[in-house]
Amino acid sequence: MKTLNIIGSGRVGRACGRMWAQAGVFEIQDVLTRSRESAAEAVKFIGAGDAVGGLAEMRGADVWMIATRDDAIVPSCRTLADSGKITPDDIVFHVSGATPSGDLEPAREHGALIASVHPIKTFTDAEQAVQSFPGTYCSAEGDAEALRVLRPAFEKIGAKVFDIASGLKSLYHSGGVFSCNYLVALIEQALRAHEKAGIPRAASLKALEPMVRETVDAVFDTGPARALTGPISRGDVATVRRQLAAVEAWDAAAGGLYRGLGLIAVALAEADGRLDAACAKELRAALSGR
Ligand SMILES: NC(=O)c1ccc[n+]([C@@H]2O[C@H](COP(=O)([O-])OP(=O)(O)OC[C@H]3O[C@@H](n4cnc5c(N)ncnc54)[C@H](OP(=O)(O)O)[C@@H]3O)[C@@H](O)[C@H]2O)c1
Repeated sequence: MKTLNIIGSGRVGRACGRMWAQAGVFEIQDVLTRSRESAAEAVKFIGAGDAVGGLAEMRGADVWMIATRDDAIVPSCRTLADSGKITPDDIVFHVSGATPSGDLEPAREHGALIASVHPIKTFTDAEQAVQSFPGTYCSAEGDAEALRVLRPAFEKIGAKVFDIASGLKSLYHSGGVFSCNYLVALIEQALRAHEKAGIPRAASLKALEPMVRETVDAVFDTGPARALTGPISRGDVATVRRQLAAVEAWDAAAGGLYRGLGLIAVALAEADGRLDAACAKELRAALSGR
């Protein structure tokens, strides 16, 4: 069994460490975080490995996982590379969706094979993540020989691994930001509009919940175009004009958001055949302030 050292063991490092230990995929060896105390907590959670207080204490390993926050990946990799701990053909990988495996170049300069495997999942809590991980899609890119080891390692704990182009990592990751983080921001925007219209936040959340849940279900059941309802999908140009004017009078930034998202909705409805070309043109003009 290949040995694994973990540098940075928060939610993702702990969850993956425990799953690999339990599935007998890797022999978890040394775990390094920012303090020996948190490394000891990580080792307790994983149920295997040894907590260390610094890189100097780490033994050599076949595979090195860097699961620090994104900003610490490059400095951690550089420190690892400079430590002389890497031997040729060691695998060094990170789990960030936002940065390419090329960020691990300092390790490659010391003979390592580098890669990145990014789980498309929100790890809010390591314990919960272990339970819900099977079925998680993971994008992978990097050296083929590294991926020959990492792909099955992730698959054995239930991941569905697919390839991503290294140079498109930022764009790819924005898809997660739009669909997950900005969905939250969008609902916050809806709450603010309701609040401005005199509906308290708590009442608004309750009122919106069934509609938002049904809409999200519809997106995944029938696709975005079919899931789209509302004035744009009906071609109600006058309503859209009135609404845009009200939103812009309240908050110019919210108006910009309404315009940008509205144009995407017009394209969806038109492609679905629910808007004819003339109506789509009128809506685009309304949303562009013409
Ligand atoms: N959370 C998610 O939903 C998610 C999903 C997919 C991928 N990812 C990726 O997974 C990686 C880790 O994210 P996370 O959510 O697990 O982060 P996290 O819970 O904040 O854990 C980060 C870990 O890195 C340690 N650390 C930070 N700087 C370090 C350094 N310089 N040297 C050694 N250890 C260091 C921290 O130490 P302490 O314990 O001492 O604070 C902590 O153990 C990121 O690249 C992220 O993009 C996250």
